[in-house]
Amino acid sequence: MMGYRVTILCENTVGPVSGTLGEHGFSALIEWDSGSLLFDTGQGLTLLHNAQRMNKNLHQIRQVALSHGHYDHSGGLLPLLRNCGPKQVFAHPAVFLSRYRVNDRGEALSIGMPYPQDYLEGQGARFDFSDAFREIAPGIFLTGQIAASVTGPADSGLFLDPCGQTLDPFHDDQSLILRTGQGSAVLLGCCHAGLSATLRTVVALTGDTRIVAVAGGTHLGFCNDQHLETALAELDDFDVKRWYPAHCTGHRATFRLQQRFPGAVVVAQVGTSFEL
Ligand SMILES: [Fe+2]
Ligand SMILES: [Fe+2]
Repeated sequence: MMGYRVTILCENTVGPVSGTLGEHGFSALIEWDSGSLLFDTGQGLTLLHNAQRMNKNLHQIRQVALSHGHYDHSGGLLPLLRNCGPKQVFAHPAVFLSRYRVNDRGEALSIGMPYPQDYLEGQGARFDFSDAFREIAPGIFLTGQIAASVTGPADSGLFLDPCGQTLDPFHDDQSLILRTGQGSAVLLGCCHAGLSATLRTVVALTGDTRIVAVAGGTHLGFCNDQHLETALAELDDFDVKRWYPAHCTGHRATFRLQQRFPGAVVVAQVGTSFEL
C-alpha cells in the first residue's frame, strides 16, 4: 500500500516553518513515491511564497483537486498556473457558480471563483469535471457530491445570490480520500456538506470504517454552540485515529475537539506535515 506525505501550504495560521505566511484559506500538498498533487490552492497570496520556503517545487505537480469554488481555496490557481505551468484541475461541475456571503445588514460579498473558466484555461488549466466518486491518482479519490447533512447547514450566511434568497446547497463541496493500509485519510476543504455527512459518505464509498486521519477545514467555526455540540456528538459514530483541524475550524471548535479526543488532535497550520 502506498505511503503519503501531507504538507499544509496555505492556512489561516503559521506553524513550524519560519518565514512562511498565513492567509484565510487552505491548501495541502500530497506527495508519494512517484508523484504529487495539490488539494486546494488557498486564495493566492501565500501559496508560491510558502512552497518556496518549504522547498516544495510546484512545477512538478501536474494535478490540482478543488474541494469547492470558494475563493480561499481556488484563488491560488492563477498564480500557480502562471508561475508553475499547466495543470489538470479536478472539480465538481458546479464549482464556477457565483457565491456570496450576505451579512446581517444585507451586505453581500462575492466569494466564488475569482476568475472565469475560460480565463484560467487560457493560463493553462485543464478542467476535469465530475460529481462522481473517482480515483484521480494512485490510491487518491475525490468523494464527488455529498448528500446533504441531516443537521442542516452550520453556516446560514452563504448564498448563491447577492440578495440572500437562495442558500448555497454546496453541491460542489467534496473531500479527498487517501487509501492507506490502516484505513482512509480524509482531507477536507471547508466541509460545507457537514462533517458527519462527509465521513459517512467516505465510509460508504470505501467500505472501510477505519479513518486514520481527518485533516483540513471543518467549518465548525461557523456553528453556534448547540450546533457545535451536535456536530461533535455525531463524531462518536466514527473511528477517527487522528484529527488535524485547520482553517474554518476555528479556535473554539479546535479546543472542543481536543477535549473530546484527548491526545488525538494536532492543529494543522502552514508547515504542518505528516505521513500516512
Ligand atoms: Fe474556506
Ligand atoms: Fe468554503
